Amino acid sequence: MSKYAHLRQEYKKHQLSEENALQDPLAQFDLWFHEAISAEVMEPNAFTLATVGENGTPSARVLLLKGVDQGGFVFYTNYHSDKARNIKQFPVGCINFLWLELERQVRISGPISKVSREESEIYFHSRPRESQIGAWVSPQSDVIQSRDVLDTNLAMMVEKFKDVEKIPLPDHWGGYRLVPVEIEFWQGRPNRLHDRLLYSEHEDGGWELCRLAP
Ligand SMILES: Cc1cc2nc3c(=O)[nH]c(=O)nc-3n(C[C@H](O)[C@H](O)[C@H](O)COP(=O)(O)O)c2cc1C
Repeated sequence: MSKYAHLRQEYKKHQLSEENALQDPLAQFDLWFHEAISAEVMEPNAFTLATVGENGTPSARVLLLKGVDQGGFVFYTNYHSDKARNIKQFPVGCINFLWLELERQVRISGPISKVSREESEIYFHSRPRESQIGAWVSPQSDVIQSRDVLDTNLAMMVEKFKDVEKIPLPDHWGGYRLVPVEIEFWQGRPNRLHDRLLYSEHEDGGWELCRLAP
């Protein structure tokens, strides 16, 4: 047997039923997120974002969740990056949280749009000064000749901002918000008969709940 095929875990820690699922999926997310923090999941706000690229080619990467507000999930990145190019062309995405310690997955899909400049400003200036400078240093997703490019850019930016108290927010950096139209909560159960509850947005703005086969 291959070294992969024999790896096998039974999931038996929790269950998720229509009776105990909250009516509002954002409240349910908040509940599970706090349980992930209590369970000391490493980087509980880390998630995979899938976007659609040219020719429909999907692309995915890990990001950090920085807020849940105005009905959506907020993350920050470089507006010139590959993901930003994807979002510009196809302003939709799918987010996936994996909290293995709780045998849980949450999948969230919907349209993505930029957060306001004011929101990006507030978050940007809450970051450590070094991270703020870092946003100026790295042409995210571009090909660079070597690590030296980053070291040289860093030295240049440190010099440029040495007497600047408040590092300005670069035009090419800011947040996005994905507003869900579907949220699926997945709870691992024994014998691969997992619980899957899917919330789908109604036209009237409410949510419909159904159970999916595992
Ligand atoms: C744990 C973790 C957290 C990350 N958080 C972010 C983030 O919040 N924003 C970001 O732009 N990249 C983050 N990255 C890097 C991205 O995964 C990715 O490499 C980068 O955004 C470029 O992606 P793109 O070329 O698809 O645009 C993170 C990576 C890891 C592993």
